[in-house]
Amino acid sequence: MTTLRLGIIGHPVAHSLSPVFQGAALRALGVDATYDAWDTPPNALAERVESLRASDVLGANVTIPHKQAVVPLLDELDPLAVRIGAVNTVVNEQGRLTGYNTDGAGFVRALRDDAHFDPRGRSILLLGAGGAARGIAFALLEAGVVRLEIANRTAERADALSTELRSHYAAASVQGAPYPPADLSFDCIVNTTSVGMHGGGAEEASPCDLRNAKTGALAVDIVYAPAETPFLRAAAARGLSVLGGLPMLIFQGVLAFELWTGRAAPVGAMFDAARAALAERGSH
Ligand code: ATR
Repeated sequence: MTTLRLGIIGHPVAHSLSPVFQGAALRALGVDATYDAWDTPPNALAERVESLRASDVLGANVTIPHKQAVVPLLDELDPLAVRIGAVNTVVNEQGRLTGYNTDGAGFVRALRDDAHFDPRGRSILLLGAGGAARGIAFALLEAGVVRLEIANRTAERADALSTELRSHYAAASVQGAPYPPADLSFDCIVNTTSVGMHGGGAEEASPCDLRNAKTGALAVDIVYAPAETPFLRAAAARGLSVLGGLPMLIFQGVLAFELWTGRAAPVGAMFDAARAALAERGSH
């Protein structure tokens, strides 16, 4: 039996945690496959994607800066990936490549499994309107959120995204909001901006003042390094429930793993491997 191959296509991609926890998942289930970091500059993307058609390749993850550029290189797209216009998972079936987007669904799964928060019927405030916010917004509306507001530094981006979302999900109330937001009466507030991220340029800042947040609301930051961002620290101090970015990262990988292998992913082993690698990195 040949060893099968998986990997993550990005640039740069050396610091990605995916090889760590996907490798752990493969080992935990005894799947004879490797998962590597496939650093791919933009001018080599087409060739890299072609290489995924080989019979020993199960598929790949796709990350920054290729999530949109990969779309026209694939044979088929999952309907949600079509809406989002971005792909983070490619599955190879006998040389035919299908693109999926598990980022948003991974986020929703993290909300449900880790924070015990079911988005159906709830109200959500999204901070940021970039690529990450986009995938999350679509998945939240798919999951039945009834009120979604998007607050972004550049208001035009929030308005454009809101208009697009409304055209697909007429039953929900979706609109742009001022940044920083004044109304915080939401069941859940999600930070997708790079404010508070290591290397994001505003590490000590929080993207909104949580003093007026609803009692019992959930605050989520999609940043996983540091584990506790200033936003989450402020939320915890205010007595809110909090969820960091690691579960979203793991669950997008869980859903990808299940698409590639058809087997239930070993979620615990994936978390353990990711946490150990983060602790190791933090100790340097
Ligand atoms: P990603 O794909 O990770 O979402 P992105 O598309 O570059 O990355 O989006 C980054 C988000 O963080 C954007 O919403 C950005 O706001 P703008 O649209 O106004 O650029 C937001 N962001 C980045 N730095 C910020 C800062 N210092 N203050 C507020 N928002 C910031």
